[in-house]
Amino acid sequence: MGRHHTCLVHAVLLLAAVAVAAAQPWTTCGTGGGGKYEKGSAYENNLLNLALTLRDGASSSPIVFSTGSNGAAPNTVYGLLLCRGDVTQSVCAACGTSVWHDVESACDRAKDAALVYNECYARFSDTDDFLASKEGPGLVTLLVSGTNITSSDVAGYNRAVTDLLTATVEYAVGDISRRMFATGQRVGNDPGFRNIYATAQCALDITLPACRRCLEGLVDKWWSMFPVNGEGARVAGARCQLRSELGAGPFYTGEPMVLLRDYGVPPA
Ligand SMILES: *[C@@H]1O[C@H](CO)[C@@H](O)[C@H](O)[C@H]1NC(C)=O
Repeated sequence: MGRHHTCLVHAVLLLAAVAVAAAQPWTTCGTGGGGKYEKGSAYENNLLNLALTLRDGASSSPIVFSTGSNGAAPNTVYGLLLCRGDVTQSVCAACGTSVWHDVESACDRAKDAALVYNECYARFSDTDDFLASKEGPGLVTLLVSGTNITSSDVAGYNRAVTDLLTATVEYAVGDISRRMFATGQRVGNDPGFRNIYATAQCALDITLPACRRCLEGLVDKWWSMFPVNGEGARVAGARCQLRSELGAGPFYTGEPMVLLRDYGVPPA
């Protein structure tokens, strides 16, 4: 949500405490218990090494995704790194390096930590619950744009966003060859919401039906999670992720995989 002021909602889906964050990473910390680790501890060492392993794993994989664990009990650390489906391997690696760099300070050494960046999502914990659960979304970080649409047609805007999210999700789960990732754009007539962009993505260790359930569930709940007039919103979870943004250009790279046109909008 870069250019906007961003409000950050920490949530175990829908139950929220609100904070304001100025910059990446956006975090959800310590909600799963687990307490904190000390500087110089075995846990810290295991965590930092795991962050590098996940970075190398995700960035060398065509699915830009990696999970793993590191260290012997009671200092075992479990982790997951998911890069955005359209980023290059070097961008994925750079985001993984940011995770490694930020993970301690971002969550004040909480063992349970989720870090959200525009290019990747990372989750660490001292338990493997979040890896074992193949149904999403699990613990999510909700991000909302602090800016509002100028159009008075809020209902029309909501329909437009819902249509775009629905189509983008459908594309992402429509064929396994798409690797459970899709980008979308809706071009409309209302100058107050001319171009809306979206992405939908799942971690590739869940099934296609589970991905569909997860993403469609997020679409269904979208307007109960987010302000109806917000210019952008995002759900980032370990299993599935969905984002919508009004803007002059896409927040993802490349041409949209899904292009919706409002009635009467001529092709480019
Ligand atoms: C945006 O709209 C909400 C109501 O949905 C309002 O509470 C908020 O103050 C508005 N924000 C700005 C920046 O105008």
